[in-house]
Amino acid sequence: MKVLLIGATGNIGCRLVPALLTHGHTVVAYVRSSNKLESLLPSATFQQISVVEGNAKDSTAVKNAIINTKCDAVVNCAGLAAMVPWSSSDLPEIFRSVLEGVKEAVTDRKKPLRVWFMAGMGVLHFPGTDSLLTNYLPIFREHRINYQLLQELPPNTVDWTMLCPSTMVPESSDFSVPTKSSYARLTGNARTPPQWQDSWIKHIPFIGRTLLAGMNAGRYTTTLEQNADFIAADLETVDSQWSCTTVGIIDGSK
Ligand SMILES: NC(=O)c1ccc[n+]([C@@H]2O[C@H](COP(=O)([O-])OP(=O)(O)OC[C@H]3O[C@@H](n4cnc5c(N)ncnc54)[C@H](OP(=O)(O)O)[C@@H]3O)[C@@H](O)[C@H]2O)c1
Repeated sequence: MKVLLIGATGNIGCRLVPALLTHGHTVVAYVRSSNKLESLLPSATFQQISVVEGNAKDSTAVKNAIINTKCDAVVNCAGLAAMVPWSSSDLPEIFRSVLEGVKEAVTDRKKPLRVWFMAGMGVLHFPGTDSLLTNYLPIFREHRINYQLLQELPPNTVDWTMLCPSTMVPESSDFSVPTKSSYARLTGNARTPPQWQDSWIKHIPFIGRTLLAGMNAGRYTTTLEQNADFIAADLETVDSQWSCTTVGIIDGSK
């Protein structure tokens, strides 16, 4: 696929460039500074991509980038959620603008676009309930606003998926192609965390589900490279199994 990668200079963005190339995709990086991206990537990797400079808060520029470069997929990793509710982040503004640009591009090109959005584990559902995990662990709550916007989309417009990792750690700072990793492929699950460990603890009044969510959270640490590979591999499929859903992931080999 030809993929517009928004936020290619970030932690996950830098790993997505080589991962997408390794999986045979064509990469158009959408960044605020081409010079910054060039300084982060090995020159052999940078030479394999094209770059559009722009701000993710400019929805028209996002739309034009998709249309002008003839991309058929978008990966958005621009912006960073605030850890706690009392600090602020411009992620919702960025997300709304990117989604607006994507919707306008879909109207223009008259066919759906495949789009991956980054989120956090909090927008997965607590297994067996209709409640999101952020109800019990109230951190990174901006992703919740973004998820709401996706749920409100009319059917058959944007073919979206929201990746919902817990903490992602780096494996290395080698962004060359092809990627090399000694880590396992991630296991995904739609809507709820895969391989959730249930316990009677959840029945403790008021705090039970919070305790159980906290106990599980550490098991979902993955690497940035594993997540980049997960998205890049999915974009090779024509009909993704992750269409229009949140996706939880785990390194099942641990
Ligand atoms: N890191 C984790 O452990 C983790 C875990 C779970 C979920 N997530 C989520 O994953 C996403 C990406 O995380 P990350 O760690 O890769 O974040 P990051 O390293 O802070 O990267 C953010 C990226 O957004 C770009 N950006 C910010 N404002 C922009 C704008 N107005 N226009 C264009 N680009 C803009 C930055 O570009 P500049 O270089 O120009 O500043 C940078 O490339 C976030 O939504 C985060 O909440 C992260």
